[in-house]
Amino acid sequence: MSTISTIQEIQEVIISRRTIHKFKPDAPPREVLYEAIDLARWAPNHKLTEPWTFYILGKTTISRIAHLNADRLVEKKGQAAADKKRARWLSMPAAIAVSFKKCGDDFREKEDYAATCCAAQNMMLFLWSKGIGMKWSTSGVITDPAFHEIIGADPACDEVIGLFWCGYPEDIPQKDRIPSDQLIKELP
Ligand SMILES: Cc1cc2nc3c(=O)[nH]c(=O)nc-3n(C[C@H](O)[C@H](O)[C@H](O)COP(=O)(O)O)c2cc1C
Repeated sequence: MSTISTIQEIQEVIISRRTIHKFKPDAPPREVLYEAIDLARWAPNHKLTEPWTFYILGKTTISRIAHLNADRLVEKKGQAAADKKRARWLSMPAAIAVSFKKCGDDFREKEDYAATCCAAQNMMLFLWSKGIGMKWSTSGVITDPAFHEIIGADPACDEVIGLFWCGYPEDIPQKDRIPSDQLIKELP
């Protein structure tokens, strides 16, 4: 069982974690990413389908994704915006993509998506406890079959829930939440 102090530490990690947009250049140690994924898989998961796959993306893969994303953006936002985004993505120190296996049953897929999001939160909280931040991105590129091809996923079977940029925070944004008394409906 957890002690009071570890519960308080967990609370502190949950509350202080922020989405990080600007990272320092150093990549986090590979073994810490492995530890985070090792913890991620303890997420609640109905029927224990363990539907997730974690793809640790090296610099070459990040570069391929940055170019794919920029190529997609040219048409929508123009060359300058695409180049700016390319440069930003090329500067990312590390990234993990996360997918889950689609099983063809809508209800189970919803459960598996939910479980995979819980796993992602475990991963993010562990890394945050080590001083490493993430940005969960659902950029349109993650649904592109070319993205699946780059990370070695099958677009027919694997749904990517996000691309998680990863690194030591350059700065930590402030965020707030609605007070919980506005979220609660107490029933008899
Ligand atoms: C499913 C999901 C998708 C997200 N996609 C993006 C994204 O594409 N771009 C982005 O800047 N942030 C994205 N975020 C991060 C949220 O914007 C962020 O969690 C929110 O602003 C609250 O900030 P916090 O994480 O620091 O508390 C995503 C978060 C979730 C849960």
